[in-house]
Amino acid sequence: MLCYLDEIAALLFLSTPATYLHNIWFAAGILSSFRRILQHFHTTAEDYTVIFTSGCTAALKLIAESFPWIPEGTKQPSSRFCYLTDSHTSVVGMRGITAQMNVLSVPIKPKEILLAKSRLPAEEQNCTTPHLFSYPAQSNFSGTKYPLSWIQNIKSGKLCPIKIPGKWFVLLDAASYVSSSPLDLGVHQADFIPISFYKIFGFPTGLGALLVNNRIAPLLRKTYFGGGTAAAYLAGEDFYFPRKSIAERFEDGTVSFLDIIALKHGFDVLEKLTERSLGRIILHYSSGMEKIKQHTFALAHYTYAALSNLKYANGAPVVRIYSDTDFSNPDVQGPIINFNVLDENGDVLGFSQVDSMASLHNIHVRTGCFCNTGACQMHLDISNEDIQRNLQAGHVCGDNIDLVDGRPTGSVRISFGYMSSFEDAQTFLNFIIATRLSKSDSEIPLQTVTKPMTESVPDDHLSFNNADKLSPVLQISDRDLRNISSEAKTTGRWQPLEPEAESIRAAVSETAVPTCRKGDKPITIAKIYLYPIKSCSAFEVTEWPVGNQGLLYDRNWMVVNPNGVCMTQKQEPRLCLVNPSIDLKQKIMVIQAEGVDPISVPLEDNTGKEAVICESKVCSHRVKTYDCGERVAGWLSTFLGRPCRLIRQSSDVKSKSHQKNTKGLSCATNISLSLVNEAQYLLINVASILQLKEHISARLKEPLEIEELIRRFRANIVVSAPESFEEEEWAEISIGALQFQVVGPCSRCQIICIDQQSGERNKEILQSLSAARGRKTNFGIYLMNQPLLSSFSDILSVGSQVLPVLKENTEIQPPTSSEEKCSG
Ligand SMILES: *Cc1c(COP(=O)(O)O)cnc(C)c1O
Ligand SMILES: *[C@@H]1O[C@H](CO)[C@@H](O)[C@H](O)[C@H]1NC(C)=O
Ligand SMILES: *[C@@H]1O[C@H](CO)[C@@H](O)[C@H](O)[C@H]1NC(C)=O
Repeated sequence: MLCYLDEIAALLFLSTPATYLHNIWFAAGILSSFRRILQHFHTTAEDYTVIFTSGCTAALKLIAESFPWIPEGTKQPSSRFCYLTDSHTSVVGMRGITAQMNVLSVPIKPKEILLAKSRLPAEEQNCTTPHLFSYPAQSNFSGTKYPLSWIQNIKSGKLCPIKIPGKWFVLLDAASYVSSSPLDLGVHQADFIPISFYKIFGFPTGLGALLVNNRIAPLLRKTYFGGGTAAAYLAGEDFYFPRKSIAERFEDGTVSFLDIIALKHGFDVLEKLTERSLGRIILHYSSGMEKIKQHTFALAHYTYAALSNLKYANGAPVVRIYSDTDFSNPDVQGPIINFNVLDENGDVLGFSQVDSMASLHNIHVRTGCFCNTGACQMHLDISNEDIQRNLQAGHVCGDNIDLVDGRPTGSVRISFGYMSSFEDAQTFLNFIIATRLSKSDSEIPLQTVTKPMTESVPDDHLSFNNADKLSPVLQISDRDLRNISSEAKTTGRWQPLEPEAESIRAAVSETAVPTCRKGDKPITIAKIYLYPIKSCSAFEVTEWPVGNQGLLYDRNWMVVNPNGVCMTQKQEPRLCLVNPSIDLKQKIMVIQAEGVDPISVPLEDNTGKEAVICESKVCSHRVKTYDCGERVAGWLSTFLGRPCRLIRQSSDVKSKSHQKNTKGLSCATNISLSLVNEAQYLLINVASILQLKEHISARLKEPLEIEELIRRFRANIVVSAPESFEEEEWAEISIGALQFQVVGPCSRCQIICIDQQSGERNKEILQSLSAARGRKTNFGIYLMNQPLLSSFSDILSVGSQVLPVLKENTEIQPPTSSEEKCSG
């Protein structure tokens, strides 16, 4: 803690009078933040040491590295690292470090702890081998709060996580808990308490702390010594003497001192907020935290009650909530609700779909397993084999594959913080009601919701600004009911339409040969599009060569931000105004956009330097790419008005062996794909578009052009089949010599809301799709082509006939594929 004060002291001498004053502020600011943290947790520097880290995760790592473990194979009894299975990944990950140190780790299920009552025999109590037990004060998954009384009981030997001689130390992962509950370290003297400040204030990110009880602080080991941690050392010899202060010893390098100073403002804001709510009386800060606990719990309780009462007309619940409590007591339940949305038949709706719909309503939900696989497995009933099987099916943590074989791989979570209001809770409920319940279902049982917060919370929670609105019995407003009924109008089953696709049919060549498919009219290719630059405008062609990764040059380039993260229309709708086209003869790609001169990029040049691309947050070399240079980067940056670069996939990936596509579904990971695409081709059917158009027209004032609608779905192949949605019954198709396997349906995201000509958004489109398709957002199918038999590339042409093979069992729903392709 004091090490950067040294630096500041140095600054004091060097600086001019103006900055001198500034620097005194710095020093004072840091000291005051330091005090405020200890004060916040009801403790003093006498009992606890504060070590600043980059976050809770870094604090956990530090514990694993410096705990005075006694490894296996020494004369003394060895140490154990025990953790509750409902722990955050960052806690479970500590076992990687302990394993390296030859220390065994033992996962413990919550109910095992509740049952463990045994006391150690007296003769074993003299053993001093240190063991560490870690548990979350509040589960990051379900919001369950585990008893803080465990701390004292474990330390005193009354409660034994596992029977083994030695001395237990307790790591209380308070990262989630302290964001909405008071923690009194005077009473609950855990040995290690890691926290992240953004979870308390929403800011600053990248700053956390480890509070270490001074009973263990002097025993911590330090192997690495970074700048500022040494009292003295010799560069040439093994001589290092650490600083006396524990905090100074562990804060490697320069800590983020500006952020530390900013903490004061975080505490100030929390204080002001809760002061105001109490009128003139200014209470001790901790009772402010108590207010926040009551306020956030009141919101969660209300939302939980409303959600669990939502029913379809047939009585089936609308959501399945994963929790260990019934939200009746804020001491055992935090303000987190974890659930999955169900359909009328009780089948789970994929969380990616819920996420897409929620983002249209400006609601931010978290989806997946929330860095807590243990809790996720427990609540969703996913076995270890399932996790391994899902991985084989291409599902990895953090992706959008939300269902495998119809079973969820994760769930949806909402949490409330001090700034959440009653309106937020209502907005969320209205969103669920609007997207799930039609008129016929709308005996909305919200009336049955009891007044939120009856006994368990003291009355003074009403002093919150918005709490007065919490009291009336909740009823859906007339406006909501109107919204629901307008939704219902459009929800009935679709009537088959007379296809009126003249404009499309006109495009179909006359040469199509009739087929003998159940006497039906032939299916033909109506349009072919490629998207040379991911997320940019389509390039329409009448015939095009097919390579091993799909249409030649389809999504071979992408626009990335200066950090290498791919830009899509979600962040930058203007990308659809960028029109690339490919000139195979001249071997160039020409990029055009209104109001600027076109620019061309050679097709065969890969002399640029290698680039790293980042999919969401993970950067990798999985796809080899190179940068297309300054000229085109400048052109794009000017047009989009933000710095960006164009990168291209190296052509050597193309020759990568094309693996056999087994079972169709699990293939997405091992088939050769161009840039981060989900599948090689996306196919849509004109008849399906026509039916959707009818549906949307009923909801829109202005008529929608069919061509415009087609463009929104960003398909590669547009076929014209007689029946709408018959494409969903296909297992395989062949077009001339080319064979394609159907990978699965494409689940749509908000990209289809963007007018591909103007870049404007209209959220009606996705809502109509969801309403029209029985509240699913699938439209179109993904295809993979079989390895090409010859080395010649085949040609796909408009007018060619499409011969489908139907699925044997049309009931099987493949996993909804992620939205990669629909992100452009
Ligand atoms: C968020 C969280 C973490 C990890 O915190 P980071 O800020 O990501 O380092 C660990 N445990 C729990 C319970 C959490 O909620
Ligand atoms: C444990 O320590 C106590 C007191 O220090 C001593 O009386 C006792 O004999 C010790 N027991 C064993 C098994 O070493
Ligand atoms: C849970 O952990 C994740 C990942 O660290 C974090 O983003 C999220 O905000 C946490 N949630 C709560 C309620 O603490």
